[in-house]
Amino acid sequence: MGTLFRNGTVVTASDMFEADVLVEDGVITQIGKGISRRGHEVVNCRGKYLMPGGIDVHTHLDLPFGGTYSNDDFDVGHKAAAFGGTTTHIDFAMQPKGGTLHDALNIWREKSKPAQIDYSYHVGLTDLRDDVMDEIPSLLDEGITSLKLFMAYKNVFQVDDKTLYRAMMQAAANGMLVMVHAENGDVEEQLRTQLLAEGKTDPVWHYSSRPPEIEGEATNRAVVMSGMTGCPLYVVHVTCEQSIAALRRGRALGYPVMGESCVQYFHITRDKHLGAKGFEGAKYVCSPPVRNPEHHAVLWQAIKDGTLQVVSTDHCDFWYEGGVGPWKEWAEKHNGGNWIEYEKQDPSYRRPGKELGKGNFSKIPNGLPAIEDRLMVMWHLGVNSGKISPQRFVEINCTNPAKIFGMYPKKGAIVVGGDADLIVWDPKKTHTLSAETQHMKCDYSLFEGMKVRGMPVQVYLRGRKLVDGDQWFGTNGGGQFVHRKPNAPVL
Ligand code: URP
Ligand code: ZN
Ligand code: ZN
Repeated sequence: MGTLFRNGTVVTASDMFEADVLVEDGVITQIGKGISRRGHEVVNCRGKYLMPGGIDVHTHLDLPFGGTYSNDDFDVGHKAAAFGGTTTHIDFAMQPKGGTLHDALNIWREKSKPAQIDYSYHVGLTDLRDDVMDEIPSLLDEGITSLKLFMAYKNVFQVDDKTLYRAMMQAAANGMLVMVHAENGDVEEQLRTQLLAEGKTDPVWHYSSRPPEIEGEATNRAVVMSGMTGCPLYVVHVTCEQSIAALRRGRALGYPVMGESCVQYFHITRDKHLGAKGFEGAKYVCSPPVRNPEHHAVLWQAIKDGTLQVVSTDHCDFWYEGGVGPWKEWAEKHNGGNWIEYEKQDPSYRRPGKELGKGNFSKIPNGLPAIEDRLMVMWHLGVNSGKISPQRFVEINCTNPAKIFGMYPKKGAIVVGGDADLIVWDPKKTHTLSAETQHMKCDYSLFEGMKVRGMPVQVYLRGRKLVDGDQWFGTNGGGQFVHRKPNAPVL
């Protein structure tokens, strides 16, 4: 038995039309008017939009980072994603220092066992030895087509220019894509040291340690290397005018460069949010930092004119008030005990979070909760305000991510033969975003109190219902790994 989605308005990256969509064995088998089939479950979509499931190509679930781990894992994070209409994501499998790229995959495969939505990995290169360089092409056999390198986070993930250049050469030779976190980590280290020495320790100084200039400079450096090597480049979490200018210049020269921004960079500001009184600003600490509205306007323009192709989340959530629970006493009693072990025994315990950086902004774990909010906020800010069309919304959140990362048309489209990952979207339904009602495991919401209009009311993964209103129908382990194809188009 299949499912017939009747009388919906189908929205694709190029069109909007009234149609029925028939789903059998997890794939779309027919799109047209007046489809009738006996014995199928019927979903009435009148007055609703039918869109491809969202694809979030930038997430960090269960990431060890900043002296703790991000909260959401492949169970809770997946449910939160699905409640927000996202049915596929790509996480970063980070190479352990001294380890191989396959070690990274094995660690992330273990984390992915409870998967509820479909997923893949980018591999994060942290230690590009000669043996690792030789290992890169074998990732294609595992369905991995994208590498990630960090130009920031000195002494943690940062690589030098030679490493980035060599990785690009190898990727280009194998039809792969290189992604970069573009900030000049050496200059950031210098600025941070100076600020702390001057006693500037509050969260807002995080901004001054990572100004737009060091993001634009690193973006330009990566763009130049892409032009020299011919390697497709995808700059993650672009936040500012300086980086957009670098991407525009590269694209005008015909270099294969692309970029994404994240939902938070269109709304959250340095002045109001990061600069909030006391320690409150820690809730908004991420890298690169959130910028003020003049940069938001530049990002919208870049989304409209195609300089940016994708909006993702960089979801990497930490408690605002973490470390809560009697774990210190427990750890003292149990030799070698630590908070992760404690958490396994007492799930109500909160692992350390943003409070790690009280008195020193550079120790605040970097990252934000957003995997659930992306589609609702982008629709509200973008479509409701007339900045982008519903088709462009689908393109940047669903279709382009699938194309750039080698999953199209299995994912990111409503086409015959494609996976039936579908959102029934009610453009009239309103919802107030809040920590009280979200499914992300986090004690605050970036968008607390924002009343959005337009949201998913039902969400399907390969024809199986995951979400209906506030009810959850997914299954532990029901998510599948998506094997991706190399030589994807540069958009
Ligand atoms: O602040 C951020 N962005 N945290 C996650 C790691 C990264 O840089 O993407
Ligand atoms: Zn980053
Ligand atoms: Zn990230």
